[in-house]
Amino acid sequence: MQIIRDIATLHRAVSALKQGGKSVALVPTMGALHEGHLSLVRMARRVADHVVVSIFVNPTQFGPNEDFAAYPRDEARDAALLVEEQTALLWAPDVAAMYPQGHSTHIEVAELGADYCGAARPGHFDGVATVVAKLFNQVRPDMAIFGEKDWQQLAIIRRMARDLDFGLDILGAPIARGADGLALSSRNAYLTDEQRAAAAAFPRALKAAAGSIAGGSDVGETLAEAEAAILAGGFDRVDYVALADANSLERLTQLRQPARLLAAARIGATRLIDNWPVG
Ligand code: PAJ
Repeated sequence: MQIIRDIATLHRAVSALKQGGKSVALVPTMGALHEGHLSLVRMARRVADHVVVSIFVNPTQFGPNEDFAAYPRDEARDAALLVEEQTALLWAPDVAAMYPQGHSTHIEVAELGADYCGAARPGHFDGVATVVAKLFNQVRPDMAIFGEKDWQQLAIIRRMARDLDFGLDILGAPIARGADGLALSSRNAYLTDEQRAAAAAFPRALKAAAGSIAGGSDVGETLAEAEAAILAGGFDRVDYVALADANSLERLTQLRQPARLLAAARIGATRLIDNWPVG
């Protein structure tokens, strides 16, 4: 596996991979890889001839009081995992290569980025969309894989690829969960043992709420019960638990398919997100 840090070398390496009409799938990540990321890499390998993974902890998607500096970084460990998954190329630019001095153009995500995580993290999705657009232009893959774990992010990137004519396929991969149901996340590393044990209450509440809503229970009452169950399970704050149109992300007060439960909650200083299909 080649580890590449400058764009000229990247372009040469990707052109070589594409020789003979071979396809390339990109899996964008911020590193600290876990089984969730690796499941995306495996999907990429199934759908394309070659897999390119990017690791870049993107400063523009972190708010001023968020965990950019503390975000876990271990490139040697990540690279070893990617070699095992037969990754052709690791694109790992530093901040100066990604955002050269004087960088002043960015993508602004309108309504899809306003609610949910966008409301709690102003500017977050503009930062995500901008870096993902840059990654698409840098790597020029035939397809890119994103996890359903970040449902709003996936919806925003699908819309961006369409709106800006990127001409590549965006594929969603199912959420990888631990044995107790908690979605795998690099941020789970911040949890104490006690918090990690309590965190299982989060997916449990979403699963129960999804079942109730699919069974015809009142949406507002069920969402309030889910929120109460998450707090009772040991979370300190619920940012949102919402029923949304799975594509447009419009908030729903009555079940209408396709629907998805979207949620974010804080345990101590750690903010976790999850989502669950309804019906
Ligand atoms: P990161 O949080 O590292 O996630 C990289 C990809 O892995 C995303 O598409 C995310 O949805 C997926 N992923 C994470 N945990 C998962 C799980 N438990 N199951 C399935 N997929 C999972 O998301 C980002 O990085 C960044 O915002 C990025 C898109 C790379 C832009 O900077």
